[in-house]
Amino acid sequence: MVKLRSQAWFDDPHDPGMTALYLERYLNYGITRAELQSGRPIIGIAQTGSDLAPCNRHHLMLAERVKAGIREAGGIPMEFPVHPIQETGKRPTAALDRNLAYLGLVEVLFGYPLDGVVLTTGCDKTTPACLMAAATVNMPAIVLSGGPMLDGHWKGRLAGSGTIIWEGRQRLAAGEIDYGEFMDMAAASAPSVGHCNTMGTALSMNSLAEALGMSIPTCASIPAPYRERGQMAYRTGLRIVDMVREDLTPRKVMTKEAFENAILVASAIGASTNAPPHLIAIARHVGVELSLEDWQRVGHDVPMLVNCQPAGQYLGEAFHRAGGVPAVMRELLDAGLLRGGALSVTGRTVAEEMAGAESQDRDVIRPFTEPLMTEAGMLVMSGNLFDSGVMKTSVISPEFRARYLSNPDDLDAFEGRAIVFEGPEDYHHRINEPSLQIDEGCILFIRNCGPVGYPGSAEVVNMQPPDELIRRGVHALACIGDGRQSGTSASPSILNVSPEAAAGGNLAILHTGDRVRVDLPKRRVDLLVSDDEIAARRAALPPLKLNNQTPWQALYRGTVGQLSTGACMEDTVAYQDLVHTAGLP
Ligand code: FES
Ligand code: MG
Repeated sequence: MVKLRSQAWFDDPHDPGMTALYLERYLNYGITRAELQSGRPIIGIAQTGSDLAPCNRHHLMLAERVKAGIREAGGIPMEFPVHPIQETGKRPTAALDRNLAYLGLVEVLFGYPLDGVVLTTGCDKTTPACLMAAATVNMPAIVLSGGPMLDGHWKGRLAGSGTIIWEGRQRLAAGEIDYGEFMDMAAASAPSVGHCNTMGTALSMNSLAEALGMSIPTCASIPAPYRERGQMAYRTGLRIVDMVREDLTPRKVMTKEAFENAILVASAIGASTNAPPHLIAIARHVGVELSLEDWQRVGHDVPMLVNCQPAGQYLGEAFHRAGGVPAVMRELLDAGLLRGGALSVTGRTVAEEMAGAESQDRDVIRPFTEPLMTEAGMLVMSGNLFDSGVMKTSVISPEFRARYLSNPDDLDAFEGRAIVFEGPEDYHHRINEPSLQIDEGCILFIRNCGPVGYPGSAEVVNMQPPDELIRRGVHALACIGDGRQSGTSASPSILNVSPEAAAGGNLAILHTGDRVRVDLPKRRVDLLVSDDEIAARRAALPPLKLNNQTPWQALYRGTVGQLSTGACMEDTVAYQDLVHTAGLP
């Protein structure tokens, strides 16, 4: 039996004065002294849901089942709020708040009388923010996702979160639908409580949390309104109490092997391009070395097995009924790829957990030998414009291949005329400007959209072609930028470019009209001008002007790193394993 840190607040024999002070206020809503001094684990429930955070709002109800589980197992639950992060609500971008929620949660976990924590996750950044904090503090922690919404339907076919918005925008631009129909399409994709039902960033990150071993198997995929979701909440509450008794901490679960498993699963599910920075950030806070090179080394050759939008066809309900993450991991285990010895929060190994899993629908979760696509992982590009940029190969469409590649069956090299936008506002103002003469051979660039430039990094690299091109049937141009793109987008952009223009990257010196060569086999993107010309343009760059709208934006910009290394606040990474290294506050 480990000594509980909460007893240093509630039952310190050497300091009755402080014990009395700590105790009395927690009694004032009905908890008894006997409970708080019983030596029962005190379990935090990190509540990410609220009216402002609808993707996670369901957790307000699920918390009751979590508490029932905690009580049943002999623990005492204490629910507390996490800074809200709503992907679709926060301006200028929810990405700005991932590190803020992280910092806040670290302070709560470290500074209050908690022995373990249930991390309620869901909407995109809530999952990495919670896992980063648990990693830093290294207190027993378990993930409970809220689950995807039910499948959306519009006019007799599936309407997936985000993906239907990208389609609706194109149809509106082409004049095929009007404003009202566009709004109806959007609403149809959100039929119930829960987070995005496509394999966007939310379902990707919750699936990867499960692949890391941080949630009970099948947790990620259960749709929010299903009865199994409430049952999973109860089981998660039960389990965290024993995890405290076993001292099963995040550092024992989130090992290098666990991160390699997550990368394997990321390729197999066709995960969001937001997954690499988030997973790298979690790894850095738990003290595991993980780089973009690991993504390519471990993940690139892995086939895509999950047939979900945006890369595939189906949505969350089908994914769950087909077996969810365990069925995917079983395929990877049988193929000899999965690191089966990695530990799960259940206390068993991944191999033990996956033994009984099996795909229940082989069109939704394909056998390893009949994938939707081979070599479905991320490509890491570099060149004279940037050190690294990520490309999700699973969404390179036949149309794109036919337009840009000489042999559509093979990824090869292409050149294009650069069209450069200074950010999303500039893009929206000028994309239909006839003088730009944008044609199907152009490459669209967007800059000043990285962590420092935006700030937070904007999901804008998936730029829609001009209306005129869409009307002619050109649905995607090659796009490159120092921002991110939505995980629900099927655009084969090169994004997360690091260093960003605002941090000294060469994207800043690009001019509209420049020729750029993209060589996919060599994984290079190069501006076709001389080194002397590059140096001259760098010397002529005007000084950077950044406009901070809030105090946090100023703090964030002063400390944040690049997307290639997780966009962490660099000074925070040194603080690790706080429960054991920093002692009691
Ligand atoms: Fe919250 Fe997609 S917007 S999960
Ligand atoms: Mg997003």
